Amino acid sequence: MSETKVTIYGQGPWEDDEYGRRYQADAYVLLECLDPHCVDAVITDPPYEINIRNQAWDRRDIHIDWLAYQFARVTKPKGYVLVFGSDLQFGTWYRELGKYFTQLRKFAWPKTNPDGLKKGNLGDFAEAFELAIHASNEGSWFRKGRKGKLNYKVTGVPQGRHRAMYETKTGETKALHPTQKHLEVLHYLIDAFTRKGDTILDPFAGIHTTAIAASHMGRRYITNDITPYYKWADPGSILQGWLDNRKE
Ligand SMILES: C[S@@+](CC[C@H](N)C(=O)[O-])C[C@H]1O[C@@H](n2cnc3c(N)ncnc32)[C@H](O)[C@@H]1O
Repeated sequence: MSETKVTIYGQGPWEDDEYGRRYQADAYVLLECLDPHCVDAVITDPPYEINIRNQAWDRRDIHIDWLAYQFARVTKPKGYVLVFGSDLQFGTWYRELGKYFTQLRKFAWPKTNPDGLKKGNLGDFAEAFELAIHASNEGSWFRKGRKGKLNYKVTGVPQGRHRAMYETKTGETKALHPTQKHLEVLHYLIDAFTRKGDTILDPFAGIHTTAIAASHMGRRYITNDITPYYKWADPGSILQGWLDNRKE
């Protein structure tokens, strides 16, 4: 397996395991430090710019034009970029990734626990799906030996016990990260777009869910988040919770 590890001066610490490195740095600095064409895929979930659950990190503007350029620069010619995004950003991601990639497609999957479901205030036709955009070039590697598969259903498995939780001072249990990605979704996408030994980059990794899925599937990873979530979330129990959930 090839290794890509960079030193990012003036940024936070990192953690290694045999499959890769989790950084705590500004994604804009990390991306500048990476060599051209050093990863097979970028799979990432950048801030949505919608002030989600009042999170400070989701209030700032992100620079989609610059990120699209960097994603194309660091990805190998036959590699992929997959970006989760908000409705607000979707057109911009399409336009910017379209400058560097010839093939763009949307992915959608059912969200079994949309916000407001428990309170019962969603009404009819509530949106219960999420979207991602996938960018590649002509001749890119794609899983072979399989009949075409429609992409409307990635998973119907509920998020379940692999959600990282923490206890508040009042003893309440809360989700550590409001937008922790579903491991089932990541598993499906990593399986479809990458091969064993490939390196996946996620510069906005939250609790580093991409690293958990990648290492479980024999892929290398470079993940990063400006907030030190990796110190508070236990990858082993997140993975185990998901595996147990799958069995049920
Ligand atoms: C939508 S969340 C990603 C959640 C992730 N998919 C997960 O499963 O936990 C976006 C993340 O981007 C991080 N972030 C925001 N600005 C950043 C920056 N400049 N550099 C690195 N991370 C940043 C936030 O801390 C947040 O965790």
